[in-house]
Amino acid sequence: MSRVDTTQERLIRTYRKKARHYDLTSRLYPVPGYPQRAQRSQAVRALDLHPGDTVVDVACGTGLNFSLLERAVGPRGRIVGVDLTDAMLGRAAQRIEENGWTNIDLVQSDAVDFVFPTEVDGILSTYALSHVAACGDVIANGAAALSRGGRWAVLDLKAPDNAPRWLARPFGSIDEWIARRPWAAVRVAMEETLGDLSWTELAFGTAFLAAGSRGA
Ligand SMILES: C[S@@+](CC[C@H](N)C(=O)[O-])C[C@H]1O[C@@H](n2cnc3c(N)ncnc32)[C@H](O)[C@@H]1O
Repeated sequence: MSRVDTTQERLIRTYRKKARHYDLTSRLYPVPGYPQRAQRSQAVRALDLHPGDTVVDVACGTGLNFSLLERAVGPRGRIVGVDLTDAMLGRAAQRIEENGWTNIDLVQSDAVDFVFPTEVDGILSTYALSHVAACGDVIANGAAALSRGGRWAVLDLKAPDNAPRWLARPFGSIDEWIARRPWAAVRVAMEETLGDLSWTELAFGTAFLAAGSRGA
């Protein structure tokens, strides 16, 4: 068995366990009262979507962004949710059914292997890309699939700059995560593949919103 497979299987196992209560527990993530909903809204606004647009939600989980995306693209638009974990997608499918949405397709795939539809107007990933070792490839593949002017937005947690370890600990903790600095890899990949990149630090530097568009 390859090392990649092992990592993937471990992730799937972890999120299978989390899926059932994810919507509830994510409200406490990374700490109770964290302005997650406001951050999601800000990320969707950064995509500058219009009615009828097509948008991909990478590592969509249980679909917590879907209502915001539905509002942005309307019933004539199209949403594609991609995730690795069957159980998370199962909850997303339930959400779609409960809301009567008919324009959302779910795809079970590793984000790295996902073949983006061509001429996508927007790509979003929230609180997920730091789990993906090859996030640079995901960003580059997505950027290549964007229509001219189409936008990519990534929202994720980060450790505050110059924060003492004890302060960073509640925000995803683990020394490995802090040492790896996955947000830096996201930034480099977005700078390399997109134009007019904006980088906004949120909630005292514990999260970032990066957004850019495909140039001419
Ligand atoms: C913390 S959850 C975030 C879910 C959702 N984006 C949200 O904002 O609530 C992380 C999600 O990333 C998914 N994931 C992790 N690695 C992935 C990969 N390589 N490809 C696709 N999905 C992945 C997990 O299955 C999980 O649903």
